[in-house]
Amino acid sequence: MKGNEATMLDMVMGLPEQMAEALERSGKARLGRIPRPQGVTVAGMGGSAIGGDLARDLLRTESPVPIATNRDYAVPASLGPRSLFVAVSYSGNTEETLSAYRAARRSGCTVAVISSGGRLAASARRSRLPLVTVPGGFPPRAALGHLFVSLLVLLERAGLLHRVERRVGEAVSLMVGRRQAWRRRAKLIAKRLRGRLPVVYSTARLLDAVADRWRCQLNENAKVVCHTNRLPEHNHNEVVGMGRPGFLAERTAIVSLLDRGTHRRTALRLKNVLSIAGGGYADAQTLQSEGRGSLARMMSLVMLGDLASVELAGQTGVDPLPVARIDELKRRLARAK
Ligand code: F6R
Repeated sequence: MKGNEATMLDMVMGLPEQMAEALERSGKARLGRIPRPQGVTVAGMGGSAIGGDLARDLLRTESPVPIATNRDYAVPASLGPRSLFVAVSYSGNTEETLSAYRAARRSGCTVAVISSGGRLAASARRSRLPLVTVPGGFPPRAALGHLFVSLLVLLERAGLLHRVERRVGEAVSLMVGRRQAWRRRAKLIAKRLRGRLPVVYSTARLLDAVADRWRCQLNENAKVVCHTNRLPEHNHNEVVGMGRPGFLAERTAIVSLLDRGTHRRTALRLKNVLSIAGGGYADAQTLQSEGRGSLARMMSLVMLGDLASVELAGQTGVDPLPVARIDELKRRLARAK
């Protein structure tokens, strides 16, 4: 295994320890009083935004207020004094997030920040906003444990979710106990994805962001395009287009993510979709979440996907660490003020 592959693999395998550390760090952060909001917006891009999507899915069945993610320069008109806005940027210098942060501050809502530094953390410090500082030195996508758990702690402080410590603890034990087996499984998953277009289907709302995480990790670590969709919505449009164009389907591998919360009718739908329209595809595999609580189940498939993306990079001779095109784009945009 080459240097960078081992480094990324170590970071992915260390996700549970990172989550445990994040719990401790954010517990100590001086967050002050965060009023209970009527709506939450989490602003971020890429690896910093996905934690917001995971939180949205996790809180879907338990939070009395809606949570939305915002991936743009502008913020929704609904932001107001009773909203909580959390700006998440690992570097603290992502221009879309900084722009949304400035707009949110003008709207008079409660603003909190999660970052390792940069202009965002500096501004939050100056303005004495609730701030969780996460450790630097990771590629943002590999800092998911810090970014996501810090957000959960913040949301708990705002009264929107409970027992974060216990739930993170459960997820951490599951991940530590299962990670070697998941690594072996990830090798087999990667083998079935090699040289193919991965298509990842989520079958439960708890797994929608997990499917998106699979896509982003396959994009950035394995450097491949990936398509995602969710059932049952897929059954009302994409099912019609499945298999075409044929040359693509022949080289497409479907991965379906299942959870014990998958509606039994949705599971039945998946089975029928694969038998009606799955014929022309190179491969189809189904993966089931593990664990008891919703956070543990979610993280079981996040970690398996992260591992599969690193394995696929290794099997295809790709360096999982650099994201040269993202860096180049950021450089060009910075020059073109
Ligand atoms: C790189 C990565 C990217 C960044 C994104 C935003 O590992 O995952 O998607 O997360 O470009 O940058 P930050 O996270 O610094 O705000």
